[in-house]
Amino acid sequence: MDTSKKKKRIAILTGGGDAPGLNAVIYTLTKTCILKYGYEVIGYRFGYRGLLLNEYKPLTLETTSGILHKGGSILCSSNKHNLFDFPLKDENGNFVRDKDGNIVKRDVSDVAVENLKKDGVDVLVVLGGDGSLTSARDFSKKGVNVIGVPKTIDNDLKATDVTFGFNSAVNIVTEALGRVHTTAESHHRIIIVEVMGRNAGWIALHGGIAGSADVILIPEIPYKLENIVQKIEERDMRGKPFSIIVVSEGAKEMGGEQTVSKIVEDSPDAIRLGGIAHKLSYQLEQLISDDHEVRPVVLGHTQRGGETSPYDRILSARYGNYAARMIAEGRFGEMVCLKGSEITSIPFDEVIGGQRLVDPNCELVQVARDMGISFGDQPVKERM
Ligand code: F6P
Repeated sequence: MDTSKKKKRIAILTGGGDAPGLNAVIYTLTKTCILKYGYEVIGYRFGYRGLLLNEYKPLTLETTSGILHKGGSILCSSNKHNLFDFPLKDENGNFVRDKDGNIVKRDVSDVAVENLKKDGVDVLVVLGGDGSLTSARDFSKKGVNVIGVPKTIDNDLKATDVTFGFNSAVNIVTEALGRVHTTAESHHRIIIVEVMGRNAGWIALHGGIAGSADVILIPEIPYKLENIVQKIEERDMRGKPFSIIVVSEGAKEMGGEQTVSKIVEDSPDAIRLGGIAHKLSYQLEQLISDDHEVRPVVLGHTQRGGETSPYDRILSARYGNYAARMIAEGRFGEMVCLKGSEITSIPFDEVIGGQRLVDPNCELVQVARDMGISFGDQPVKERM
């Protein structure tokens, strides 16, 4: 290697909600950049916030040692820092508001571009979902060399077959369903397990099938309460006086609305879904026999925490390795993705906008229906 030349400097940031596999990508990308290509690597802290405030740390063989299997992000993450539409604060730290009470926002992305120049960063690698990758595209349009890596437990990015984090979340849901199964059976209860996924039902669908749920409710297939009750009663008559319902946080009744738990005003995607399990639990208790109690269980952030599944470790390793190769080949303005079994890349413009939702007529939904799993949209035949 010619040591008189400046080493290429690569920066990584993790944006949006965390997902198992972030550390595995950081680990693989850093090691490959250092060992194979002789680059230097730094990591911005708290996603795009680090880029704005110029907060970063060196990523070395030492600082990334032992992180491959761990959930979370050693760089920390934030889902509040869209630098192209950034909330203004006054000197007391309060949001500046217009006459209608809305937070005033402005584009501070030039500060970030200056910081990248000052820090001698040659390439920025963004590990993120739709929001963070939209900013990645916009930085790319400003002349920054950017590469994206698709992250989210929701698996709702349209430009890749699988995002890292999804498999780990499905494993957690599957394990949780196994656990509630035995207690539901002991008490003849109906247990409703609420899972994440935002507007996409992937986690509920995969977790529900793998965990032998009796009813799976997803945003893409609105339900009727009477169909859920019918399934519970049919099972009861068949000698199964307990049922497991998996409900996606974004699921809704036919003609109804999604259940919102919170508005996070300064977040680019302000709506936080949640609360459907409790609502449904109350509604079902009014409709089914007193012999059965209905209990809600909300898995919440357990789905994002803990250790990364082996599948996600491998996928993340492949994504991280491919991103390093793209740097070496000078391929920027693209996101790494999985198509079938092949890792490849796709231009940012084809990544952004539109979520990958469950097609109600897809094979997996049909597989579930054929097993007698109810989606709450129609009555289910339990017996011949
Ligand atoms: O996008 C990942 C996700 O976990 C969604 O499934 C969920 O709706 C949302 O993030 C929760 O966000 P927060 O961590 O801000 O509560």
